[in-house]
Amino acid sequence: MLLLGITGGIAAYKSAELARLAVKKGAVVQVVMTENAKNFITPLTMRTLTGRPVYSSLFDFSYSSATMHIDLAREPDITVVAPATANLLGKVASGIADDLLSTVLLAVDLKKRPVLLAPSMNTAMLHHPSVRNNIDVLRRRGYFFADPLSGDLACGDVGEGRMAEPEQILRLIEDKLAVHPDFNGLTVMITAGPTREPLDPVRFLSNRSSGKMGYELARAAKERGARVLLISGPTFLEPPQGIELYYVESAREMHAVVMEKRSLADIIIKTAAVADFRPEDIQMQKIKKKKGLNELSIKLTRNPDILKELGLLKGDYFLVGFAAETENLIANARKKLYDKNLDLIVANDLTQKGAGFLEETNKVSLIYRDGSVEDIPLMTKFELSHLILDRILNWKKS
Ligand code: PMT
Repeated sequence: MLLLGITGGIAAYKSAELARLAVKKGAVVQVVMTENAKNFITPLTMRTLTGRPVYSSLFDFSYSSATMHIDLAREPDITVVAPATANLLGKVASGIADDLLSTVLLAVDLKKRPVLLAPSMNTAMLHHPSVRNNIDVLRRRGYFFADPLSGDLACGDVGEGRMAEPEQILRLIEDKLAVHPDFNGLTVMITAGPTREPLDPVRFLSNRSSGKMGYELARAAKERGARVLLISGPTFLEPPQGIELYYVESAREMHAVVMEKRSLADIIIKTAAVADFRPEDIQMQKIKKKKGLNELSIKLTRNPDILKELGLLKGDYFLVGFAAETENLIANARKKLYDKNLDLIVANDLTQKGAGFLEETNKVSLIYRDGSVEDIPLMTKFELSHLILDRILNWKKS
């Protein structure tokens, strides 16, 4: 089912065409309109095109259940808001739920169901810092966008702000829902998260990795039909269904599992932020603040470089490393690509807003073995995961 939200903008007339095209393709389309949308297009038009009742009010007693907003958020495979006005974007970005559509949007679980927003407004409104900020916030949270087009606007201006055409929105919907089983028969090994290097029974050295990048890669690869081995340092994330998961704590534990399983893999992707060093001695008892002890030195020793070892052994697998850098992004990442004998390295620029550790989004450059660099715009880690998998598959086919 496709839930089509319609807000009060002149482009609402195009939503009728979008609904018609989707129904023609066999989709069940459920329309939720705002009160303002009814000034631009009638519920009767949408009801006739979709063959279903159209809802607008949170208190519509013709609906069979008392939890209408939750049902409408849970049932669709995808939710699309076209047109999405500046007001709707602002409400979703701020968590405001003051009508049926905004309440449904707040109740959608983005991890399970995509939401596609098709903004439509005057150029000055679209470029207003508040609207730009709302769009950035929503992208970072994982909302997808059918970017507005440039051209003649209803107000007479010419510029950016026209809603994407219904055919384009439909293609994006199909793309978001499509399951391309193009990784069928391939085994992808992914490492994710931080490692913890114990100091004593209660303390450890670690880093800021949340594991999100690796878990999203695992989810995307699974969706595309791969057998997925996820080797995860400590995280608070729910693993994707249907994968083989190995929890580890330290770099040495990660090293052991990776080496044991590496012969199964066609593709190895190392997103994990592995500690390069560990305390040489692990204290058996908790280290105490003894009287007079004002300094404490901890001697560190090198951990195995798992990726480097994989590069040296280099079997038939396609080997992808990640690099998180705070300076000289391309030069530092390129050095790792060659030193570790990789096929591809994904360079995260930690100085960019929305990139790197903990974020829902990432901003990276891909550096290939021939030295070429592809700069990728800011996108969600899930979108980036699919893009990385696309690039790997292209390389394997060539
Ligand atoms: O987990 P998130 O919060 O989503 O954040 C994602 C991320 C920023 C951690 C991820 O995108 C990332 O960039 N991971 C690599 C972090 C890093 O900088 O690693 P590095 O430069 O220390 O190592 C380069 C590569 O060698 C990495 O692929 C790493 O897994 C690997 N390595 C490093 C050291 C070591 N002892 N063994 C390794 O295998």
